[in-house]
Amino acid sequence: MRKRTPLIVGNWKMNKTRAQTLDYLNKFVKGVSGIASREIGVAPPFTSLVTASDALKGSNVKLCAQNVHWDESGQYTGEISPSMLKDYNVEYAIIGHSERRKFFGETNDSVNKRVKGALKSGLKVILCVGETKEERESGKTQNVVKSHLIGGLDGIGVQDLLKSIVIAYEPVWAIGTGLNATVEQAVEVHQFIRTTLDSIYGAGTSDKIRILYGGSVKPENIDGFMATADIDGALVGGASLEAESFTRIVDFKEV
Ligand code: PGA
Repeated sequence: MRKRTPLIVGNWKMNKTRAQTLDYLNKFVKGVSGIASREIGVAPPFTSLVTASDALKGSNVKLCAQNVHWDESGQYTGEISPSMLKDYNVEYAIIGHSERRKFFGETNDSVNKRVKGALKSGLKVILCVGETKEERESGKTQNVVKSHLIGGLDGIGVQDLLKSIVIAYEPVWAIGTGLNATVEQAVEVHQFIRTTLDSIYGAGTSDKIRILYGGSVKPENIDGFMATADIDGALVGGASLEAESFTRIVDFKEV
């Protein structure tokens, strides 16, 4: 028996026009309609949110966003506010993805502001944490993951954490490389994340928090990840871009 409901989210990154979004979702929604006891989400680019929001109405697939700003409106060229996302029934916002940290100057501080802004508007958050190859090789994995957690969650109370936050452990070296972490590597860090959350929020807290794995998840390896008690789901990039392959991931087999 699982302690927590699995959550599988497809992060499309900067992919798909509106027509491609519609074509994909028509297939995907049908393919996963019979899947129960699992939470399913897709995070299209902002330009496809309108199309996706309509296509997902009445389905068991939740709409997610790839980022969100902390303020409700203002002079922030190129940003999207929490209430703009709520307008499209977005349920989760991914915050702190390593591509945002690497290419767009996202820091623990800006991640934390975005998390707070999202929670204020009632959006749920998928907070991404994870180390680079160099950091792993120099033995800094735990320090980095801990700093992403402490920084990202600064000032967030336990009620908000339990109600609205999911953590995604995404080792940067495994993202988009085809080289996934082994189940043992992922479990080791997931357990470290649970210990860290318990030390911040009190013993037993992490029992109620979902921690996803992300980084080259594919139809061939999802069953192995989901066979462990510590991994509660997946954040999937490349393999979520084809409806068939993402359907198989969402429909992972309990082994
Ligand atoms: P990937 O991306 O599945 O293509 O490795 C995962 C992510 O960036 O969330």
